[in-house]
Amino acid sequence: MTLDVDFVRSQFPAFDEPSLQGQAFFENAGGSYTCGQVIDRLTRFYRERKVQPYAPYAASEAAGAEMDEARRRLAALLGVETDELSFGPSTTQNTYVLANAFRRWLSPGDAIIVTNQDHEANSGPWRRLADEGIDVREWRIDPATGHLDPELLEPLLADGNVRLLCFPHCSNVVGEVNDVAAITALAHAAGAFVCVDGVSYAPHGLPDVGTLGADIYLFSAYKTYGPHQGLMVVRRQIGSALPNQAHYFNGETLYKRFTPAGPDHAQVAACSGIADYIDAVAAHHGMAMQTPSMTGAAVHGLMRSHESELLQPLLDDLASRNDVRLLGPREATRRAPTVAIALDRPAEAAAAELAAHGIMAGGGDFYAVRPLEAMGIELTKGVLRLSFVHYTTQQEVDRLRTALDTVL
Ligand SMILES: Cc1ncc(COP(=O)(O)O)c(C=O)c1O
Repeated sequence: MTLDVDFVRSQFPAFDEPSLQGQAFFENAGGSYTCGQVIDRLTRFYRERKVQPYAPYAASEAAGAEMDEARRRLAALLGVETDELSFGPSTTQNTYVLANAFRRWLSPGDAIIVTNQDHEANSGPWRRLADEGIDVREWRIDPATGHLDPELLEPLLADGNVRLLCFPHCSNVVGEVNDVAAITALAHAAGAFVCVDGVSYAPHGLPDVGTLGADIYLFSAYKTYGPHQGLMVVRRQIGSALPNQAHYFNGETLYKRFTPAGPDHAQVAACSGIADYIDAVAAHHGMAMQTPSMTGAAVHGLMRSHESELLQPLLDDLASRNDVRLLGPREATRRAPTVAIALDRPAEAAAAELAAHGIMAGGGDFYAVRPLEAMGIELTKGVLRLSFVHYTTQQEVDRLRTALDTVL
């Protein structure tokens, strides 16, 4: 079964937008296009239901029901209970709140592990716990490849003092897919919980978080075809153990405990459109399954195989050049199509040249300052990042490869 890319693109209004014609989009890791289902729901909410939700009048009931629908359907796709999924303003905000909860739950002498492969969102807030006497240990990447080796994790877990391990499902510059299930099993065996940043992974297929076993799994809807929201799975065991961060009278409701800000009603409701989109892709390909998480897994597989097929020739091109340094694995199946390359000049200038060829891409550090520094990349030059998702076509990748040939 191959992905019907024409069908997929017909679900994204950006591809019919006149001002975007002739532009191939390769900065999806910064934020994806939004599917029509989300845009329609957002518009409907603002037109018809923009009232305080959960009150006993029709518009309000519809608003509340749509917000509940988003949580219920996305939680089911992710293989977790409805109240284990919550929405916050962004992943950065969500980790900030979670770190604050851990600040009170941990005791001096307890240890946590962070990596230097993470985006700062899943790194800085945790590292600040050192100010409270928490022993913060760093699981370090290989400076040459950016790889996180689980063998180097084991000694960090060995003394049994680690309460939490924070790591990415996939880094936004290295692109390698970390084996979340295996790493989580190591942490659990040592008595530690895990917090996984899935922001760079989820756009390539929603994972079954239940099966992966992660205690906390975070991603950002605006990079996953939706509105600007951070989604956060907090499994019941850790969620009920951590101190409530919301109004005291909301502490009994799991999905409210780590979202002190009032929810953005319209955007939460519009997240149902992500589930609509995944269901539409499944139905179109005759893949609707018995359970939402099985449907999600089928769509995930379809997206990943299309992406991998397009990615390998791009990786081969880049790996064969001696004037660029390709970060992360050279095999498409081991990584996401988020490809960062270091050049001998500022990457932003190269991105500007690509724009003249109708390629939308970016250059800089992408808030992945620690991994870039660890790999010896000059921050003043940064990296050129070329990232795509399943709606990208072979023609667009060919066009990128041709443009890169000229620009590099
Ligand atoms: C891997 C990764 N984690 C976390 C974040 C932060 O997400 P947000 O913008 O929702 O705070 C980003 C944003 O670029 C990211 O790429």
